[in-house]
Amino acid sequence: MPVITTIDDLKRLHKRRTPKMFYDYCESGSWTEQTFRENTSDFDKIRLRQRVAVDMANRTTASQMIGQDVAMPVALAPVGLTGMQCADGEIKAAKAAEKFGVPFTLSTMSICSIEDVADNTTKPFWFQVYTLKDDDFMQRLFDRAKAAKCSAIVITLDLQILGQRHKDLKNGLTAPPKFTIPTLLNLATKWTWGLQMLQTKRRFFGNIVGHAKEVSDPSSLATWSAEAFDPSLNWDRVAQLMKMWGGPVILKGILDVEDAKKAADLGADAIIVSNHGGRQLDGALSSIRMLEQIVDAVGDRVEVHFDSGIRSGQDVLKAIALGAKGTYIGRAFVNGLGAMGEAGVTKALDVIHTELDLTMALCGHRDIKGVNKDILLVPDDFS
Ligand code: FNR
Repeated sequence: MPVITTIDDLKRLHKRRTPKMFYDYCESGSWTEQTFRENTSDFDKIRLRQRVAVDMANRTTASQMIGQDVAMPVALAPVGLTGMQCADGEIKAAKAAEKFGVPFTLSTMSICSIEDVADNTTKPFWFQVYTLKDDDFMQRLFDRAKAAKCSAIVITLDLQILGQRHKDLKNGLTAPPKFTIPTLLNLATKWTWGLQMLQTKRRFFGNIVGHAKEVSDPSSLATWSAEAFDPSLNWDRVAQLMKMWGGPVILKGILDVEDAKKAADLGADAIIVSNHGGRQLDGALSSIRMLEQIVDAVGDRVEVHFDSGIRSGQDVLKAIALGAKGTYIGRAFVNGLGAMGEAGVTKALDVIHTELDLTMALCGHRDIKGVNKDILLVPDDFS
């Protein structure tokens, strides 16, 4: 077992242990992948100010997201097919998050259901919904999330139609995989993954199968989303969904100041500045480039969260310094899960926490709540 000290180490192990189709599903962006690449490379353009002779004893990364206590301002982002990266992946990730004291967000497109996760955890988690045409199904999802005591709903707004990823098309992505010669050859080299999958008792796509009327087979994400997602989504519909849920709401996928203002007008508890990890509009600016403008425009009216491109605690600190009150990791935790299951997610959180804590200290801060833009050197043409 190699010594793991970075998210990149976990990513290498993830690649080695998980079938190509699902690794590629995680590690890809839409079309040319420009936005996917810039989400991470733009973080490197922001530099940090080193400070010395400042009391760095008794530090804390503890904070709050939508009024809920968190051990650090980092939540696990909703990720579809998490349960294909390793058997019962959503449950394992939720358990790791719970033990670490950070929020876990379950995707609509998860393999394990809301009930599977609720039955195997003790603290409330967050549930993410896509905006679907079928109102009864949406209402049932909200009812099930309430019964499972989910403490917030994340409504994803940047995927009313599905962006295209070349790798998924070329791999013929389905869950479970269809048995073609290339997939069988690849699966033969990932037998520990296969053995675990054979042992799981979960029903695949437990949030959908048996609950959605119109379409019942979500095994092909592209086909299911084209049928079920609502391409006519507008702000009135968002307001309607927020009312249907009636509890704390986080609106995800905001990348534009005008959209941020509309989301704030609706009274959301938080918005997530996000480009879906570069999986939707290829050519959009990186999330981190848009963050400060959006915080300046609406930060006094709505809590601003951030995702897309975080691979380290330094990245988390930069987003917090630019005004985010919370951040989310997607691929970083999935890399851990694919590498080592629950222990891998814990490792990913550990890596990010250690980096966040040390970087914060070396920038002269003991408390995450006191971090601000003074710790950054941002290029003039950055936003
Ligand atoms: C996602 N994301 C996502 N978002 C969402 O709202 N519902 C979902 O089901 C999914 N599914 C999904 C699958 C995979 C494999 C990835 C990588 C991402 C987007 C996710 O919540 C988040 O916005 C990004 O992952 C953030 O970017 P990083 O951290 O992966 O760079």
